[in-house]
Amino acid sequence: MAQFKPLVFSGVQPTGNLHLGNYLGAIVKFVEMQKTHDCIYCVVDMHAITVPQDPAQLKSSIREVTAAFIAAGIDPKAHIVFNQSQVAEHAELAWVFNCVARMGWLNRMTQFKEKAGKDRENVSVGLFAYPALMAADILVYRATHVPVGEDQKQHLELSRDIAQKFNNDFAESIALCGHGDAFFPLPEPLIQGPATRVMSLRDGTKKMSKSDPSDYSRLNLTDTADIIAQKVRKAKTDPEALPSETAGLAGRAEADNLVGIYAALDNRSKDDVLREFGGGNFSTFKNALVDLAVARLGPVGAEMKRLVGDPAYIDSVLLDGGRRAREIAAPNMKAVKEILGFIG
Ligand code: TYM
Repeated sequence: MAQFKPLVFSGVQPTGNLHLGNYLGAIVKFVEMQKTHDCIYCVVDMHAITVPQDPAQLKSSIREVTAAFIAAGIDPKAHIVFNQSQVAEHAELAWVFNCVARMGWLNRMTQFKEKAGKDRENVSVGLFAYPALMAADILVYRATHVPVGEDQKQHLELSRDIAQKFNNDFAESIALCGHGDAFFPLPEPLIQGPATRVMSLRDGTKKMSKSDPSDYSRLNLTDTADIIAQKVRKAKTDPEALPSETAGLAGRAEADNLVGIYAALDNRSKDDVLREFGGGNFSTFKNALVDLAVARLGPVGAEMKRLVGDPAYIDSVLLDGGRRAREIAAPNMKAVKEILGFIG
């Protein structure tokens, strides 16, 4: 397989409140990757319209996710931050991938099944084809590494399948057009650390999510210190003391989740956290977690609020990022069209 220049790509949907799961599962990793890689971080607004959206709300959510990226420590000058709809090549390549991906592959996507529920006949075609657009997001830049939370693993595997099938189906043309034995890299998911799947604070068996009707199920990035304290203190636990080793967390979903959150916020392993808190009760642990969460999230939330108050700056970041993203996407898309046999 040909060698590809290492490049990181990832995206976050501008739908509703950003929460601790998005932060620990994705955004913290985005910040980390900047040290070692060129990175492209995208506010995926075209994914957001696969379900009904209010235009005014969508616009403010796009700005809010951008603000979160910057507040968390992403440098939009050294790397690229933009909203997806500015770069038409995403949609263009997604169409090609709609013709590469098989119905059977998309039918297996658990996120679609969950989101569509019993009302499959009534959801948008876009919701079904969503993973082909996600593959296009990554591959239009020929990106090689994708930091995501655990819930995106299946979509990443599909992106690899699409890249592989394109490379196989058009192998001869790819070689003739001078791209060697593969045009697309097989993008690698980066899913690491103690918080790749942050669970609801109300139910340790359910993922923390933007769409949970209970706001007490999640810590939002813009929650105040008081709200963070209330939510953590109300978080579901069990009557046992904390174990001294991670093995003791088995079958204790809520305890496992809170320890994982603590570990991720403090950049430690769960074992290390349990060495400190094992044998103690939850109220002591929760007090420490409140202090840690407020110390880590407070400044990010405050900076987000400040940035959202300056939409002209946010929009200038997105426009600049869009222009730079297009410079990479356009020649790649041109090459794809040539490989396919299109004229012009
Ligand atoms: P989205 O917007 O639902 O979530 C953004 C990122 O946050 C992660 N995440 C979580 N991580 C840990 N625990 C949780 N409870 C949790 N909830 C969300 C997600 O895994 C994700 O990394 N389809 C994607 C957006 C997307 C994308 C892409 C990602 C579109 N194109 C290309 C990577 C590459 C999504 O809906 O993420």
